[in-house]
Amino acid sequence: MAKNISILGSTGSIGTQTLEVARSLGLRVCGLSANTNIDLLEKQALEFRPQVVAVGDEFLANKLKTRLAGIDVQVLYGMDGLKEVAAVEEADTVVTSVVGIAGLIPTMEAIKKGKHIALANKETLVTAGQLVMAEAKKRQVEILPVDSEHSAIFQSLMGNNREDVSKIILTASGGPFRGKSGAELEKVSLEQALRHPNWTMGSKITIDSATLMNKGLEVIEAKWLFGIEKEQIQVVVHPQSVIHSMVEYRDGSVIAQMGPADMKIPIQFALTYPKRALNHFSRLNFLETGALTFEEPDTKAFPCLRLAFEALEAGGTMPTVMNGANEIAVSLFLKKEIGFLEIPRIIEKVMSKHVPNNQPGLDDIMQIDNWARREAYNQYSKNK
Ligand SMILES: NC(=O)c1ccc[n+]([C@@H]2O[C@H](COP(=O)([O-])OP(=O)(O)OC[C@H]3O[C@@H](n4cnc5c(N)ncnc54)[C@H](OP(=O)(O)O)[C@@H]3O)[C@@H](O)[C@H]2O)c1
Repeated sequence: MAKNISILGSTGSIGTQTLEVARSLGLRVCGLSANTNIDLLEKQALEFRPQVVAVGDEFLANKLKTRLAGIDVQVLYGMDGLKEVAAVEEADTVVTSVVGIAGLIPTMEAIKKGKHIALANKETLVTAGQLVMAEAKKRQVEILPVDSEHSAIFQSLMGNNREDVSKIILTASGGPFRGKSGAELEKVSLEQALRHPNWTMGSKITIDSATLMNKGLEVIEAKWLFGIEKEQIQVVVHPQSVIHSMVEYRDGSVIAQMGPADMKIPIQFALTYPKRALNHFSRLNFLETGALTFEEPDTKAFPCLRLAFEALEAGGTMPTVMNGANEIAVSLFLKKEIGFLEIPRIIEKVMSKHVPNNQPGLDDIMQIDNWARREAYNQYSKNK
């Protein structure tokens, strides 16, 4: 069970909910970080009194330093700052809730310093799963999933033998555009894509949920977290988001984890594992949930899920390329520079130009990510 935590990305959706959990469990918070939101980071630092905080650049760091002059806190910036927040001596657990590949280097740093990881940042395992899991094994640190689906699988595996698992069933809400055809998806707006039916999350993951790339990223994350093959992962659309995922065993039994759509519950479990703690978060009322339904995902209308399975099949650095291209395509969609279906088109074009490197080091991964980002921009510029 965590006692002292550090949070990478404390001003985001997962970061702020982690602080609610920390308040409720009475955890000590030793490190905090934001990219640009120094107003919220200032408030968090004044309440939790961490040893170190980090922001995106020097200008913001100087501004924050002036505002926090009255308390004893180190104010840092950039990647070095994030690494310090990840490595802060007092912390036993680091919650990684930065968005995007920006989470990879500081997560690796935390693992190298022997910290347990409460992992929300799925891009870390998507881009460098093999390296991250190997380092965690070497340093004997736990990677505890925060993602609700992976927390559900983790909980459904508890007390059972891995050899008995026949498959993992990842549930997906289907997002705001479930049931729409390709032709209808050509016309959807940013505002519609940001309206997730069940969850309130940061903008990047909300768009990933609308394209089903979020489920694709989760498939790759599941492979690394649970050491399972692609053929043993099934995605099932379950619009009610009551069952957060399931494990099927070889005797035909299926164990599922259910709960309200409240991220504080998996966040808390990652921090109290192997114990459970009383809280006053939401509860599931089975008399109100209605019917639980299941459907096959439509990978024709939503090609991102197919692309993720293809990236996993190609292996090596292909998932890094898919992720880098997706991060750029989503940022362009968020700026209304491209339409919704341009997201998978850009990713597919960039992936088609890449021959995967099967034994990449961390530097190779960062270089290939850069290449994928540049290529994604090139694709966009060509079609402008
Ligand atoms: N939200 C969910 O319910 C949920 C569920 C499962 C998994 N996840 C995963 O958790 C991660 C975080 O998601 P979120 O929804 O919490 O995102 P979010 O609300 O956008 O928050 C992202 C956090 O990271 C910081 N950040 C953004 N870009 C950064 C950069 N380049 N360098 C350093 N820090 C940066 C942000 O700082 P500013 O506030 O200053 O911009 C913020 O603190 C994602 O990988 C997501 O896939 C989220």
